[in-house]
Amino acid sequence: MGRIVLGDNLHVLRTLADGFANLIYIDPPFNTGIQQRRTRLATVRSEDGDRRGFKGQRYRSIELGSSSFADSFDDYLAFLEPRLREARRILAGDGSFFLHIDYREVHYCKVLLDQIFGRDCFMNEIIWAYDYGARNKRRWSPKHDNLLWYVADPARYTYQYSEIDRIPYLAPGLVGPEKAARGKTPTDVWWHTIVSPTGKEKTGYATQKPLGILERIVRVHSRAGDMLVDFFAGSGSFGEAAAKHGRDFLLVDENPEAIAIMQRRLSGYSAGSAAGAKNYEAGQEVPAVERGAPDQGD
Ligand SMILES: C[S@@+](CC[C@H](N)C(=O)[O-])C[C@H]1O[C@@H](n2cnc3c(N)ncnc32)[C@H](O)[C@@H]1O
Repeated sequence: MGRIVLGDNLHVLRTLADGFANLIYIDPPFNTGIQQRRTRLATVRSEDGDRRGFKGQRYRSIELGSSSFADSFDDYLAFLEPRLREARRILAGDGSFFLHIDYREVHYCKVLLDQIFGRDCFMNEIIWAYDYGARNKRRWSPKHDNLLWYVADPARYTYQYSEIDRIPYLAPGLVGPEKAARGKTPTDVWWHTIVSPTGKEKTGYATQKPLGILERIVRVHSRAGDMLVDFFAGSGSFGEAAAKHGRDFLLVDENPEAIAIMQRRLSGYSAGSAAGAKNYEAGQEVPAVERGAPDQGD
């Protein structure tokens, strides 16, 4: 159960059979024009440290390492289009496809996906709203991402309403105590914090997405044993959500740093130990990762 592949996703996708995947989630680079970089720091006590902390003691930060990937494309849609067409081809008859993107490219991607899937296969634009970080003083601060959901067939697709988690009412006093205690189902606007820079979930990979969002997608849009695919997998957040809920998965990334993080992250689900990314050639499959005890994060 579970495979992680190092390589250009277009090559990998072309090797997969029609209808291979029950659920596809992708979070490609957003074409921000900047190198996405995340540096991992640790704080240590030091006489000459530049920061002062508890009881006036001095601390300094040491760099543990960093990971990065390029996020600038001359022709973004020309890069995405063949990959989106492959995604449509490998999607099972009752399958769903999610594109995670932001305000810069979402409108162009929607038009392209309408052409590839058909407008009648568009189900929702989900807004993931968060509220973290600095405010822009010249325009409204963008604090949301967009998830476009398409299905292969609008007449039959997996949507497990009973698996939706419940959230608190904004005004519980306006509904009865029973309803207030049960909570309500979310709409197409999902409020969820980003991955905490200091929390357990953090892998240190730039642009890591929160498990809470991905677990909701996995639970509602797939069933146990289904094949889930993320071919811009990064730190493997979608793979972890899949493994946690008993789904099979295929994760692809062209960045060896991402492969190494995924191997570490998903080894908690493995009966055996995972080997390092450096052992793999481009396009070569990394040994299967089996499900087991959930990883508690690093
Ligand atoms: C935004 S990140 C994904 C983050 C991921 N959702 C997570 O939670 O960690 C996009 C990823 O796409 C990968 N990528 C970009 N172009 C690729 C390609 N042609 N083939 C495979 N992976 C690619 C990058 O290396 C990067 O890890």
